[in-house]
Amino acid sequence: MKMELRPNDASPPDRMEIGAMTPGDIPTVTRIERASFSTVWPSDAFYNELNTNKVAHYFVGRIGDRVVAYGGIWVILEDSHITTIAVDPVYRGKGLGEVMLLHLIDQAIERGAAWLTLEVRESNVVAQQLYKKYGFTTVTMRRGYYSDDNESALVMWAGNLKSELYRNRIAVLRSRRSA
Ligand SMILES: CC(C)(COP(=O)(O)OP(=O)(O)OC[C@H]1O[C@@H](n2cnc3c(N)ncnc32)[C@H](O)[C@@H]1OP(=O)(O)O)[C@@H](O)C(=O)NCCC(=O)NCCS
Repeated sequence: MKMELRPNDASPPDRMEIGAMTPGDIPTVTRIERASFSTVWPSDAFYNELNTNKVAHYFVGRIGDRVVAYGGIWVILEDSHITTIAVDPVYRGKGLGEVMLLHLIDQAIERGAAWLTLEVRESNVVAQQLYKKYGFTTVTMRRGYYSDDNESALVMWAGNLKSELYRNRIAVLRSRRSA
């Protein structure tokens, strides 16, 4: 089979499109979940989030037809929470986690949130670096939060999403991404 050449297509081949997660995405999402976390959400948890949790909003990133990333937020009035974010291991280190995080932040702001928090394992330096880049700081620690190995969680938050300072920070990061 010949590789398809796309001389007139301006979009880069690795461009990820983000859309709402649907039940049909869950088998692939669950596969990425198992490759990404030591305590995994079973597929039922994702079905429940999509079908019954009115404050939950889940998204997948696709390259072509392939789901390569996912993420979710809960938004309750001005409070929002990133519940999960992961990139297929094969596609990590290419900026896709950052694109998904930016989408989650945009969605939280669009839905009226002023505050955005998350928990991250103390040892998960890669994710912490990503969150710090987007203005998250550690506000407290939950000792023994993770049931599989008793690891502690850092609770991080992004400050006031509606502040000019935060909006400017996001605008700069966004423009660097699209440059
Ligand atoms: C965390 C995760 C989503 C990042 O996705 P990714 O696509 O690999 O990350 P990106 O390529 O978009 O990198 C964005 C930023 O993350 C940080 N980062 C990414 N890879 C890193 C590495 N190997 N070491 C340190 N920081 C790293 C950097 O801050 C980077 O910004 P930079 O390129 O300006 O340095 C991904 O590693 C993942 O799915 N991990 C497993 C699941 C997980 O831990 N989720 C978070 C739960 S709280």
